Amino acid sequence: MKSDSSKNSGKTFHVKSFGCQMNVYDGERMAEMLGAEGYVPAADSADADLVVLNTCHIRERAAEKVYSDIGRLKRADGSTPTIAVAGCVAQAEGAEIARRAPSVDVVVGPQAYHRLPDLIARAERGEKAIDLDMPLESKFGALPKRAGGQRPTAFLTVQEGCDKFCTYCVVPYTRGAEISRPFAELIAEARALVAGGVREITLLGQNVNAWDGEDERGRAIGLDGLIRELAREDGLERIRYTTSHPNDMTDGLIAAHGEIDKLMPFLHLPVQAGSDRILAAMNRSHSVESYLKVIERVRAVRPDIAVSGDFIVGFPGETEADFQATLDIVRATNYAMAYSFKYSRRPGTPAATMDGQIAEELMHERLQRLQALLNEQQQTFNAATVGRTTRLLLERKGKLEGQLIGKSPWLQSAHVIAPGLKIGDMVDVRITSAGANSVGAEALTEEVA
Ligand code: 5AD
Ligand code: SF4
Repeated sequence: MKSDSSKNSGKTFHVKSFGCQMNVYDGERMAEMLGAEGYVPAADSADADLVVLNTCHIRERAAEKVYSDIGRLKRADGSTPTIAVAGCVAQAEGAEIARRAPSVDVVVGPQAYHRLPDLIARAERGEKAIDLDMPLESKFGALPKRAGGQRPTAFLTVQEGCDKFCTYCVVPYTRGAEISRPFAELIAEARALVAGGVREITLLGQNVNAWDGEDERGRAIGLDGLIRELAREDGLERIRYTTSHPNDMTDGLIAAHGEIDKLMPFLHLPVQAGSDRILAAMNRSHSVESYLKVIERVRAVRPDIAVSGDFIVGFPGETEADFQATLDIVRATNYAMAYSFKYSRRPGTPAATMDGQIAEELMHERLQRLQALLNEQQQTFNAATVGRTTRLLLERKGKLEGQLIGKSPWLQSAHVIAPGLKIGDMVDVRITSAGANSVGAEALTEEVA
């Protein structure tokens, strides 16, 4: 449904993405599509003719933020830009958004955003354009081909949706059932990114390690097969993937961590809680023991792997003993970094109506205790890398003269003074200092590696 791009010439747009990396990816694809339609990017929403709010519904605060953001789009003269609400709040709240916020013109769900140009055209004719379809045709086929960007790193969504139905989570409702994008389409997209200068690709999916497909010879493969194939691409130096479910850590994927040099030593593996009783109530379908076993097996093949996780405190019915068990699994795992949240009651999910909802203050207090432990572990992880020689992929400029910031293989942000180098270069370094959220490094050579 390609429209005449000249009709939009001169119009400006701004896409603002919230939440997970999949939203960041979707936001980039929407921006590329609007660019192909003749729109020009604006630096921020204040001077854009079209604003797309690409929203997140995972926790209450994220969803509420949308309404205050819509309110802020009102200009001094009382006018508003064309406003499209996309993402998971759009899917979950639908037409309710346009009722509650009349200045919203377009509401489009995460599986239908390839139709955005049409929806905007309908809005310009004065309609409220709402599309919450989860169409069978893939949006990916309808989007313009990727060209790679100005950055050396890129996301590539390989899998979407979730069939796991954890009882607290909205994703199975907002993103729909699990689908894997076809192998050939992914290889083509990765090649286009690499041709455009991308050196690191992070494969994305709500359950990325549930990806499956067929290779070019028709053989059934899993995520490890896809990673193996991508690792053959010249110019692609690093591969990462996120987010994984413990039950989908196959033997092949675990083995890949010991065998594929380009696969970075970092594993984001959410566990959510450390008590089997709570894990069962969450419908996580794994146990503390099975989670720890996966971690042990990955470490056996890749001893230096940095492990990251997600945690929820205050799930309905969580006792002090259950919470202590969460602290225990954190101690047993030793995380390099982690994300932790207070349980947020999401309408329509099974946990929202469970007995034993936990008071806000108690959740707050548990979160503080959990985060103190996780921060300590992160600091310890960073400190343990001091003295190591490693390689950085330089991603952006630092604050100091000649300073660049890159990522270590373990996903640490690392600062280095390297006046001869530029964004996109890789540089051999020694890590010389460690802070809570980043490390300092010295370049071992001024040569571009
Ligand atoms: N409340 C709090 N945290 C949640 N997450 C998902 N749903 C909820 C919820 N209702 C967290 C989980 C998940 C991460 C993306 O967000 O930890 O892994
Ligand atoms: Fe949500 Fe659980 Fe699916 Fe993750 S695995 S997206 S937490 S339902």
